[in-house]
Amino acid sequence: MKKIEAFIRYEAFDPIRNALTEQGVPSMSVTEVKGSGRQGGITERYRGAELVIHLRPKLKIEIVVGDHEVDIVVNAILENAQTGEVGDGKIFILPVEDAIRVRTGERGDVVMETHPTE
Ligand SMILES: Nc1ncnc2c1ncn2[C@@H]1O[C@H](COP(=O)(O)OP(=O)(O)OP(=O)(O)O)[C@@H](O)[C@H]1O
Ligand SMILES: [Mg+2]
Repeated sequence: MKKIEAFIRYEAFDPIRNALTEQGVPSMSVTEVKGSGRQGGITERYRGAELVIHLRPKLKIEIVVGDHEVDIVVNAILENAQTGEVGDGKIFILPVEDAIRVRTGERGDVVMETHPTE
């Protein structure tokens, strides 16, 4: 099992979500975050004073999948989040030791399978 953590632009979320749902990966968590990448920040003026904006709003998507679904998720993100401009985001892939569905107590890969009534 792996967790994919992707930091993306807000605009990329709906197309990513649609692509993943179509490909049988509907489960995810989304958080609004502020972050910075390699750039030092963007200079803006406020009441005549220059200030550097270091933190930009992004969405963080967290998706835990079986190892065989990692490429599906990464490709769905790349295909829909890549504009070629700086700030397109980043994807991190982390190992996941176990998963437990609270309702049934099931553990492991079976927990990531889509529910039959969904
Ligand atoms: N090393 C990192 N650790 C944690 N979060 C990160 C890291 N790099 C980027 N992020 C998150 O991803 C968001 C988008 O990063 P961003 O796309 O600007 O990365 P970048 O490395 O600067 O690439 P680019 O050159 O395309 O801008 C950041 O605002 C931050 O929330
Ligand atoms: Mg950047």
